[in-house]
Amino acid sequence: MTRFIGIIGYPLKHTLSPAFQQAALDHYKLDIRYWAWETEPASLHTVVSRLRWPENIGANVTVPHKESVTALVDEVDSMAATVGAVNTIVKRGGRLVGYNTDVRGFIRSLREDAFFDPRDRRVVVLGAGGAARAVCFGLLGEGVASIAIANRTPRRATELVDALAHRRSGLSAGTEVTMVVWGSDEMANQLKHCHLIVNCTTLGMAHGSGEGESPLSAEDIPRNALVYDLVYNPAETPLLQAARKVGARRLGGLAMLVYQGAASFELWIGRPAPVDVMMLAARKALAKLG
Ligand SMILES: NC(=O)c1ccc[n+]([C@@H]2O[C@H](COP(=O)([O-])OP(=O)(O)OC[C@H]3O[C@@H](n4cnc5c(N)ncnc54)[C@H](OP(=O)(O)O)[C@@H]3O)[C@@H](O)[C@H]2O)c1
Repeated sequence: MTRFIGIIGYPLKHTLSPAFQQAALDHYKLDIRYWAWETEPASLHTVVSRLRWPENIGANVTVPHKESVTALVDEVDSMAATVGAVNTIVKRGGRLVGYNTDVRGFIRSLREDAFFDPRDRRVVVLGAGGAARAVCFGLLGEGVASIAIANRTPRRATELVDALAHRRSGLSAGTEVTMVVWGSDEMANQLKHCHLIVNCTTLGMAHGSGEGESPLSAEDIPRNALVYDLVYNPAETPLLQAARKVGARRLGGLAMLVYQGAASFELWIGRPAPVDVMMLAARKALAKLG
């Protein structure tokens, strides 16, 4: 019997996951198909309950469902509960279990692709949506010295600071977490003294409303910082172009995307993810998207 995995999100026109997950499944010659299950919010409940059908193994979950899906699974693992978001569902003994592999994907890319050790480093996070939550919890777990969160809508940044304060038990108690007003002198000051800048906004994303825009100009970026843009399409985002101008180190979002997918693959299949195969397929699919 052919079995199925899919990605649940809306819209899904530009998703790379089917390309690189299918490449990984084909690498092991498994009779499993990975589909894009485009799902409007009103249909989320129905689509998640279909995962209980015998032929379905599980799913990835993406925007805008990562938070609302936590209420629809039978169990949520500790990392997903801490972050408050599920990006992977695995059916185990008929029960749907929710996981969050974004955190692992982010930290792995930081260490393996940027050779960056986050411990005791000062970080500025731009954005306060789902991706920023995963990034901030990951950084807390790594014992960074400080996280300054700047978001266009200040209320969401404050909410994220509060969430980090409430759920940080067992993570790093020594990390200073603050909200800074977008565009303020304090934001400029935090940027000036930071070691890592992570863009978790949608600015710069191809086909989005912020296409072609950068959250920072070159003058805002310290030369010695690592600039990490979670946006992976285009590969060279406007923020990374600005970072290049000042000679700062740069990392785009493709590695995190592939690593979070690799962690999901291992949860569904129980075999080591062929990361090189997945990375190559993701790069090819990205080049096709344009
Ligand atoms: N590489 C990866 O594996 C990976 C994983 C997850 C996400 N991502 C990328 O990360 C980005 C954010 O995803 P998400 O899930 O966190 O989305 P989200 O929950 O919708 O959050 C979007 C964020 O972008 C900000 N934003 C949107 N338009 C803006 C503008 N014009 N100016 C300033 N800020 C703006 C929002 O600010 P407001 O609160 O003010 O609206 C919010 O902080 C996306 O580009 C996504 O593709 C990459």
